[in-house]
Amino acid sequence: MKKLGINVDHVATIRNSRGGIHPDPHIAAIVATKYGADSITIHLREDRRHIKDLDVKKICKNNKIIVNLEMAANFQMLKIALKNKPNYVCIVPEKRKEVTTEGGLNILKNKLKLKKILKYLNKANIRTSLFVNPSLKDIKLSKEINSECIEIHTGRISELIKANLDYSRELKKIKKCAKYAINLGLEVHAGHGMDYKTTKILNSIKEIKEFNIGHFIIGESFFYGIKNVIKKFKGILKK
Ligand code: PXP
Repeated sequence: MKKLGINVDHVATIRNSRGGIHPDPHIAAIVATKYGADSITIHLREDRRHIKDLDVKKICKNNKIIVNLEMAANFQMLKIALKNKPNYVCIVPEKRKEVTTEGGLNILKNKLKLKKILKYLNKANIRTSLFVNPSLKDIKLSKEINSECIEIHTGRISELIKANLDYSRELKKIKKCAKYAINLGLEVHAGHGMDYKTTKILNSIKEIKEFNIGHFIIGESFFYGIKNVIKKFKGILKK
């Protein structure tokens, strides 16, 4: 059965809209873990628009939570990661003006910097991953610079599925990439824009070991409660 990572950034988004301390993403991480999340993703963005440094500190300190820290490829973030020691780090591209992570990393352009950052993280026994587009070239490069895992950006297929458009080519592409990555010895994850329907479809790719889902889970939890939402996702992953 694939693992379910839950991104709690949007709990912080709601908290920050009032500038107070509620709702607390650390509590969200504790509750999500209690109800079956296999890991908790937090993205410390350079503009700190949702998760703050103190959230990272508190969540990483709680050894009952498996933490996946998403961060941009820069040495300030590396310093924060090495200090807080999350279980996993996933390096993502970051643009100031984007609403969310719009695509995978440009690995070729940032090859040397990424390689250096991965070296430090690997040495610190933090599981490393790169957020990539479904591209064989980027997957090959990920292996070359010693990432342990890749996370395939599922934004495009999710949009096609939600719009009831033909997603078969995109699905084939993701499947091919996942197989290629496994053959290179990389662990394969996937995420972005996923909901129940997307998860059902992508669950057919056996090479994918983990999904990371945020916005839909937090949003759906307003109506049905996080316990029920996680249960429903776990039910899909079991099939
Ligand atoms: N995986 C990565 C690497 C991401 O950057 C994000 C968005 O922060 C997600 C997964 C989750 O995406 P969503 O919130 O659309 O489920």
